[in-house]
Amino acid sequence: MADKDRVYIFDTTMRDGEQSPGASMSLEEKIQIARVFDELGIDIIEAGFPIASPGDFEAVTEVSKILKNSIPAGLSRHSKKDIDRCYEALKHAPRFRIHTFISTSPLHMKHKLNKSPEEVYEAIKEHVTYARKFTDDVEWSCEDGTRTDLDYMCKTVELAIKCGAKTINIPDTVGYTIPSEFTKIIQTLLNKVPNIDKAILSTHCHNDLGLAVANSLAGVQAGARQIECTINGLGERAGNAALEEVVMAIKTRPDLMPYDTGINTTLLSKASKIVSNATGFPVQYNKAIVGKNAFAHEAGIHQDGMLKNRQTYEIMTPESVGVKQTSLVMGKHSGRHAFKDKLNSLGYPDLTDDVVSNAFAKFKVLADKKKHVYDEDIIALIDDSLIIDNKVNAINLKSLKVFAGTGEPQKAEMTLDVFGDVKKTSETGDGPVDAIFKCIKKLYPHDVNLQLYQVHAVTEGTDAQATVSVKIEENGKTTVGQAADTDTLVASANAYINSLNKMIIKRDKTAPEEQFENKQMKGI
Ligand code: KIV
Ligand code: ZN
Repeated sequence: MADKDRVYIFDTTMRDGEQSPGASMSLEEKIQIARVFDELGIDIIEAGFPIASPGDFEAVTEVSKILKNSIPAGLSRHSKKDIDRCYEALKHAPRFRIHTFISTSPLHMKHKLNKSPEEVYEAIKEHVTYARKFTDDVEWSCEDGTRTDLDYMCKTVELAIKCGAKTINIPDTVGYTIPSEFTKIIQTLLNKVPNIDKAILSTHCHNDLGLAVANSLAGVQAGARQIECTINGLGERAGNAALEEVVMAIKTRPDLMPYDTGINTTLLSKASKIVSNATGFPVQYNKAIVGKNAFAHEAGIHQDGMLKNRQTYEIMTPESVGVKQTSLVMGKHSGRHAFKDKLNSLGYPDLTDDVVSNAFAKFKVLADKKKHVYDEDIIALIDDSLIIDNKVNAINLKSLKVFAGTGEPQKAEMTLDVFGDVKKTSETGDGPVDAIFKCIKKLYPHDVNLQLYQVHAVTEGTDAQATVSVKIEENGKTTVGQAADTDTLVASANAYINSLNKMIIKRDKTAPEEQFENKQMKGI
């Protein structure tokens, strides 16, 4: 395909996605995600907003060191300090992008920036020119673009290109536009900005009205050639355009959208799972492309049609997005070799020996307890092992007994290894989970807010594995712990302990004054 038909995919899951309340990811999780995104074929990965916090800076730094194919990007406001920090984080990569933005709508210029249009114009000149000193790959965004006066937008876009921006991003920051209006904005820029041929136009649509994907595709049909999006549509408020949806829409309708994205769509399901695990945000069952029911056919009429010809009710195959038919081949007699082969076939070819050994040990325990071990069970085990890889846990569960049921108050008896000290206690609670969490708090005194406790069944049946997600908050820092087990209560204890272990690592890495700065910056 000619270059004019190439649509670049710019992923902002780790930046805009992480701005979604409660969706913070640890450095280790971001590195895991970046590796999958790199393999997925994403063109540009925005890994954070380096000046926003030491955590963001570290994430952009580490991600920029490991990418093999994708270009790392960092966000900066129109401030030399922001741009310097962005460069410091990105400089490890052979190629990188500085993404710098400023608001251009009358509302934002007046109330948010307290600047006149002329002052904003001068700020663009100064900062795009400054960013260009560090790289020839500068992206400029006009925040609140869809509520910006079009003539003013044309002038600012022309200026940003003149100062060296190679990508011009038009954000629908508040998810306000509709496809026909967004089409007009893109067409106007293409027709009126004299130097527009020197840059690529990009869409960045939020989903407040549920139109983010439709608007992004309208933008591309009007001539934009980059889409900014996130896996699972994660993002501020109602989220951003979902990467998997824009990509599969383009792939499924080449008759209407003859473009190429370069995405290996068979990894979309894996990318969705890894992001969901890291954030603790479950994917809704009926979510397009990656939801559990996206390829399930329940109605008899549909099933009958499917058996006669899949195309009757299937516009894309589950295999094309990496969803495999559940198989039952693994059992308690399967060896390590077969287990490794299975991991390969599930899309995990390059795991370290430690991760494989950890997951294999858990698999053996699971296979002893559970009649059928499904692919999804193995994926849950491996994701769990990936999350704990390379970390020495401060707290480990040694044993747990729970007394639940009617009549008696629920009681838990627990033994924990806390920094090498093995301690035992028992507690009653308002339900078994409450009793378990009280035991953990007694054995390892701490003061965190429990923000989320969620149980998902990984597979079907009463012997299904439960994956539990627990999210905690301390001084503005959040962590998500996860654990899978056929015993929901054991999974609950381990998920809570996992979130505490992550918090202990975060505490060590972040000084109190930095935590304060982090909170301030995220309020942009
Ligand atoms: O939504 C938005 O306007 C943004 C910009 C920073 C690109 O995320
Ligand atoms: Zn945004």
